[in-house]
Amino acid sequence: MNFDENTLTDAVLARISTDSDPRVRQVMSSLIRHLHAFVREVEPTEAEWFEGIRFLTETGHMCDDKRQEFILMSDTLGVSMLVDTINHRVPAGATETTVFGPFFVQGAPELPRWGDVARGQPGVPCFVSGTVRDTQGRAVPGAVIDVWQTDGVDGVYDVQKADGSMFCRGRVTTDADGRYAFRTVQPVSYPVPDDGPVGRMLRRMGRHPWRPAHIHTMVARDGYRTLTTHIFVKGDAYLTSDAVFGVKDSLVVEFHPHLAGATPDGGRSDVPFTTAQYDFVLAAD
Ligand code: BEZ
Ligand code: FE
Repeated sequence: MNFDENTLTDAVLARISTDSDPRVRQVMSSLIRHLHAFVREVEPTEAEWFEGIRFLTETGHMCDDKRQEFILMSDTLGVSMLVDTINHRVPAGATETTVFGPFFVQGAPELPRWGDVARGQPGVPCFVSGTVRDTQGRAVPGAVIDVWQTDGVDGVYDVQKADGSMFCRGRVTTDADGRYAFRTVQPVSYPVPDDGPVGRMLRRMGRHPWRPAHIHTMVARDGYRTLTTHIFVKGDAYLTSDAVFGVKDSLVVEFHPHLAGATPDGGRSDVPFTTAQYDFVLAAD
């Protein structure tokens, strides 16, 4: 009773039952303290507070089985990357992780060595190879690498297209020496979906929605922590201003240009192509 702006926070905290789950108590206490501190600091007008509620409502209405506007909000506010970093404090030498993103799909085709991830999509042909090792430098055979990316021209994922066909996805497995190889098209930079409330929020902050070109990878093998990361294209204009804060220096890779001619898979390309090399290092479970 008779709460004022100084006593209200403690009163709300005191209502949390001491019988409640300890983790729930910890999370909710912290949320209440931080929310109240935010309101005290900002001193929103009632109209501004209502505008905030309206924004969250619209964000919810934008979500369905294909579009997750709340995750996009978390991504663009750097929260997804913070959660990722806290949960993946990898040992020295292990490959760093980055955001999973919303475009992974189960069931990508299994590909042989130098198999084609792009499956006819337009773009600059690109040959990616390397190894999977442990932190002692030992080869990890039988590691499965899920690869997904946009096409090489428009910067769209298959799931963003209406026709439902799968492209620019594949799974490659490391050989007895821990080596992997696939061909694809060189990825291009692309904007995160910005036609909803999150896009409006970015514009109000004077921010762009672009992500630097990257290939998503998820590397899995029994006995090791599953590694979710990206291979970024060195030289991309958005490396220093990624809309979701996912870039780490160690994940930026040179995509070497080549003239038309012999390709690393033993074939030939009639058009110029690129090659990239990346060695993954897995942390033990
Ligand atoms: C992505 O890289 O696919 C992605 C990550 C976060 C938000 C949107 C897209
Ligand atoms: Fe992506």
